Amino acid sequence: MIELKKKKFLVTGAAGFIGANLILSLLRSLEDIYVIGIDNLNDYYDVSLKEYRLVQIKELEKKTSAKFQFVKADISEKAVIEVLFQIYQPDIVVNLAAQAGVRYSIINPDVYISSNIEGFYNVLEACRHSYDNGAKGVEHLVYASSSSVYGSNEKIPYSVKDQVDHPISLYAATKKSNELMAHAYAKLYNIPSTGLRFFTVYGPAGRPDMAYFNFTDKLLKGKKIQIFNYGNCKRDFTYIDDIVEGIIRVMQKAPERQIGNDGLPIPPFAIYNIGNNHPENLLEFVNVLQQELVNAGVLPKNYDFEAHKELVPMQPGDVPVTYADISELEQNFNFHPSTSLQKGLRQFAEWYKEFYQI
Ligand SMILES: NC(=O)c1ccc[n+]([C@@H]2O[C@H](COP(=O)([O-])OP(=O)(O)OC[C@H]3O[C@@H](n4cnc5c(N)ncnc54)[C@H](O)[C@@H]3O)[C@@H](O)[C@H]2O)c1
Repeated sequence: MIELKKKKFLVTGAAGFIGANLILSLLRSLEDIYVIGIDNLNDYYDVSLKEYRLVQIKELEKKTSAKFQFVKADISEKAVIEVLFQIYQPDIVVNLAAQAGVRYSIINPDVYISSNIEGFYNVLEACRHSYDNGAKGVEHLVYASSSSVYGSNEKIPYSVKDQVDHPISLYAATKKSNELMAHAYAKLYNIPSTGLRFFTVYGPAGRPDMAYFNFTDKLLKGKKIQIFNYGNCKRDFTYIDDIVEGIIRVMQKAPERQIGNDGLPIPPFAIYNIGNNHPENLLEFVNVLQQELVNAGVLPKNYDFEAHKELVPMQPGDVPVTYADISELEQNFNFHPSTSLQKGLRQFAEWYKEFYQI
């Protein structure tokens, strides 16, 4: 078990949706911690959202005994990452920086290689060298993987025991590669690492490229929303607070370091699914979103939703059902996501109304 109080955390993707919420929760719940947040603030989506999240963190920091340092940097720049690790010497590293999105990896593949492959390699190298000259170094590396590693697997729910050798997007291939790289580094350099396969995370100040956010933007502009696979899609939607709770639980328990018969480390390596274990049909999801957008006053009561819906076929790289077997996270970490879709989407709709001043 790792005591998180008074520790130094390095979080990459700090201005991102999950990263910023993780940092807020760390600041709120732990005394005397030091959080170093790295982000390149790229414009894959509206940068003002990333800036808004950083302002929230800075404001909260003032009310706590914790310290937060933001560094605008790109994890694909090896020398920069090396220096940051040398200066700050983090105890716990959470790598959430990545180029996300399945569809964007089809039109802009280069950035997936630089951020997700080279960037993650740089983080691993920095963790490796954190032990140089007998230093205590990094106690636990937690990093983001994705449900997309399951590719077109047909066995549902997806289990971490399933084979995941058939990615169907470059994004998924980079995330699977991260898991393989982490395993090699765990074996070679005894870096305790845990990969988390996230399943569709949503909530206030979330990612505008994701369906619930994008649908809301479009409906507000009077545009039609496209519902893929004619609505026959099922997703494990997980509310951000549940995800953050899970990440913090995982951060506290690194896989154990042990030496094997070959005199080398048995890789201190773990992978978990982190989702809701409760798949929702896309059409039902859209219905709840509609209700909550009306309740929050984002859209008028008489909005003609039917006229703004278009049922379309499947997109390349997408899969019809993603749904997590989270039994290992439940058993090992007592993780039980508890936020209903209605409550989660209500939080989103209310935030949206306020943020965009509707
Ligand atoms: N949100 C989800 O539903 C979901 C699902 C599966 C996996 N994930 C993974 O979880 C992680 C966090 O996702 P998110 O939803 O918060 O995405 P996000 O895009 O909001 O956050 C990622 C952050 O990383 C930053 N970033 C990207 N490339 C960088 C680089 N090279 N150097 C420094 N910073 C960089 C971005 O500016 C962004 O702020 C990602 O690794 C993503 O692939 C998320």
